[in-house]
Amino acid sequence: MSVQTGKAFFIPNGTRANVASAIKTSPTILIILGATGDLTWRKLIPAVYNLYLDNWLSDDFEIIAVSRNSMSEREFKKHLREGVDKHSRRGKAKTREWNSFVKYIVYQRGEFDSAPLYSKIESLINKAEKKWNCIATRIFYMAVPPNSFEKIALKMGASKLVKNKLKTRLVVEKPFGHNLESARRLNGILHSIFDESQIYRIDHYLGKETVQNILALRFANGLFEPTWNRNYIDNVQITVSEQLGVENRGNYYETAGALRDMIQNHLLQLLCLITMEPPVSFEADEIRNRKVDVLNAIRKIRPDEVHQFAVRGQYGKGWIKGKKVVGYRQEPDVAKTSVKETFAAVKLFIDNWRWQGVPFYLRTGKRLNDTLSVITIQFRPVPHQSFPAEATVNWQPNKLILNIQPHMGIRIRFQAKRPGLKMVLHPVDMQFNYDESYTSGTPEAYETLLLDVMEGDSTLFMRSDQVEAAWKVLMPIIQAWEENPSVNFPNYESGLQGPEDAEALIAKDGHNWIV
Ligand code: BG6
Repeated sequence: MSVQTGKAFFIPNGTRANVASAIKTSPTILIILGATGDLTWRKLIPAVYNLYLDNWLSDDFEIIAVSRNSMSEREFKKHLREGVDKHSRRGKAKTREWNSFVKYIVYQRGEFDSAPLYSKIESLINKAEKKWNCIATRIFYMAVPPNSFEKIALKMGASKLVKNKLKTRLVVEKPFGHNLESARRLNGILHSIFDESQIYRIDHYLGKETVQNILALRFANGLFEPTWNRNYIDNVQITVSEQLGVENRGNYYETAGALRDMIQNHLLQLLCLITMEPPVSFEADEIRNRKVDVLNAIRKIRPDEVHQFAVRGQYGKGWIKGKKVVGYRQEPDVAKTSVKETFAAVKLFIDNWRWQGVPFYLRTGKRLNDTLSVITIQFRPVPHQSFPAEATVNWQPNKLILNIQPHMGIRIRFQAKRPGLKMVLHPVDMQFNYDESYTSGTPEAYETLLLDVMEGDSTLFMRSDQVEAAWKVLMPIIQAWEENPSVNFPNYESGLQGPEDAEALIAKDGHNWIV
């Protein structure tokens, strides 16, 4: 940002975090399908390991790790430890702690389309339950490529594994479907086997501390609600920018693109939390009803106006953190003539009383100049400017800036008088930083979400109608982009701010991207 700012700190009342002492989960068996994949390695095992270290897990706990891979059990566990060393928020695992944790893991090789695999899983579950003398919560986690979801669900449906509806839960990773039609189809298949209450569709953004804090900010404080509407808010911007490229995910990304990969889920969920009506209670369905109301109220974009509301981009070569990087089309498993977007920006309106006429700008991209996720609420200017012109040279309307990552915190920008003999106004920030205010470690999103599944709390998970409503919002853009592939890709250089068209999208409304 260009302005110089002063700083004031909010000190949380009662301060230096008191983490509630853990109440252990009931006996649980976590069956990870796709146990040698990247998600298990980077996210799931480090998360479960931290839940274990923080004492959340029952002593009667087991992970049945299922994979097609031919690794030995020993190699597999070594591989998992490397993942924890590299990706756990606590850093490297301590040998004694790791050795006591790894005893909870059973490795099971097998092909997902073979019925005997499912009988084998059943016998492992029975064995553990017999030892514990109880019926455990059984959580099936689909950490597999999306094209395997249906196949695995059908196999599970044909086995005895899904008989106990009260104790069986299914976790499905994103992307949930490839478009509205396939999402409906997948919902149909899952509903033929599971009740909706058994299905946990993950959007890991909802597990992030700062994302959950949006609810606290809005609904635990009386200060914001009176201004949280079209009368006071001029526009809202949601930016999720990454320096990373597609890495080794070219195969997946070629079928997805930024719109499907990020906007359909993470950014629309952020939008829902910012704009939903106050819930009557924190019951899962109450929160999810309020969110789906927002998605249903988003103005439909007509096919002929897509270019006015959406912008796409693809990165070319460039520089990131002083290192030369290749363009998207040169990445592994990416077509040399690919027209897949690695950047997307959209402008949306919400047709209801609270938000009529307020533009919401959502933007995300890979290989950009910074890695950050920020929501900016830009307030309207004051109705009458009473200060003399020379006092207001640096004058800016108020902003509320929610930093989701990497530095979690909240800032309010307001005008103050600069010290001196003259009245000169200057923008300053009041800010709350998690790092400065709380000393306890912040759980990773997957820790929160996995614990929620174990406890049967689906508040932070996507319901079937939410997923479909989110697809509905984007289908006109998806269709228009597929019918008219871009002819000017790559149109932004790695390490810069994205395509010029994204600046134009917002500039034509008289605004600019704030971060
Ligand atoms: C995933 C996307 O859902 O979110 C990735 O598939 C993206 O492409 C990632 O990099 C970003 O998540 P985070 O938590 O790093 O912001």
